[in-house]
Amino acid sequence: MKSNFETMQAQLMKEPKSWLVTGVAGFIGSNLLEALLRLNQKVVGFDNFATGHRHNLEDVRNSVNEAQWCNFRFIEGDITDLDTCRNSCDEVDYVLHQAALGSVPRSVEDPINTNRSNIDGFLNMLVAARDAGVKRYVYAASSSTYGDHPALPKVEDQIGEPLSPYAVTKYVNELYAKVFGRVYESQTIGLRYFNVFGPRQDPNGAYAAVIPRWIGALLKGATCAINGDGETSRDFCYVANVVQANVLAALVEDAEALNQVYNIGYGGRTTLNQLYRMIRDRIATERPAIASLEPSYLDFRTGDVRHSQADISKAKRLLQYQPTHSVVEGMNAAIPWYLSR
Ligand SMILES: NC(=O)c1ccc[n+]([C@@H]2O[C@H](COP(=O)([O-])OP(=O)(O)OC[C@H]3O[C@@H](n4cnc5c(N)ncnc54)[C@H](O)[C@@H]3O)[C@@H](O)[C@H]2O)c1
Repeated sequence: MKSNFETMQAQLMKEPKSWLVTGVAGFIGSNLLEALLRLNQKVVGFDNFATGHRHNLEDVRNSVNEAQWCNFRFIEGDITDLDTCRNSCDEVDYVLHQAALGSVPRSVEDPINTNRSNIDGFLNMLVAARDAGVKRYVYAASSSTYGDHPALPKVEDQIGEPLSPYAVTKYVNELYAKVFGRVYESQTIGLRYFNVFGPRQDPNGAYAAVIPRWIGALLKGATCAINGDGETSRDFCYVANVVQANVLAALVEDAEALNQVYNIGYGGRTTLNQLYRMIRDRIATERPAIASLEPSYLDFRTGDVRHSQADISKAKRLLQYQPTHSVVEGMNAAIPWYLSR
């Protein structure tokens, strides 16, 4: 039997829609772009290249055909500029808002710029989407919103105190989205991503996420650093699952599903020590010299939570979300991409 996502993909192929992807030159945004263009959708992309890259857009261009690429229009600009936000929403059916400054440590060092993109920019996009009459505003929320709440797995309505400026911004996004639903009848859905990974995630820079950073280091034969004792755990989620969740959230018709937030992870938990071995052993099949390379251990990082795992039953029930890739399956799909670059 076809999954709900397969049915929706077939429907989109038959009746293409118009999408805005903000943060399109970033990791998740460029994966959304690729998936939508492959479905022959019209896509407007919006980015200021703060952390995204032109080579991500080139990579997408090389993975779709010429006709599909012609369905893409790119706007270089900043979401802190309301006029550009309005321009980007013109004749758009669905907004997938991904643009933000990610990374907990970046927000600890630079809360003002994080606030500007993640709250001012978010509000601009909400207003622009409302005024343009877009059908739905789907946005990237974050598991960081669980803060210091100890419960595991994480359930949507049990959150604690935020542990970083980044977490504050992502929670404020949820509050604004909820109020826009109440006050202006905007249709919004927030997706609380849990440690997403996959092709085009940046391995470079001080704020790189752990998986691409380690893959990058191991490909060079360098030692990886683990913050803490390595028993910190996360629900690592392959980007195809996130793409699926965005499409389901944009198209779901059940009124009960709207103006809600959902956990988007795989529903598992992997420690950093396990993750390290998984990546090293996979790369060692191609680079045997690193087969016994051990990591080094550093201090714990400020603002990091100890354990994280998503309860994904709400997304399964209301969005018919069915993640297709476990962490191992995701790793088997992601590592060859890094090896080929
Ligand atoms: N990757 C994860 O594990 C994860 C987890 C939770 C939430 N998120 C959220 O998902 C979204 C996408 O994250 P990502 O991992 O793809 O990060 P990314 O840094 O690769 O992508 C973000 C994109 O937004 C753009 N951007 C930033 N500020 C902008 C601005 N002011 N105007 C226009 N464009 C701007 C960047 O240039 C970049 O291309 C973000 O909102 C992030 O907070 C990601």
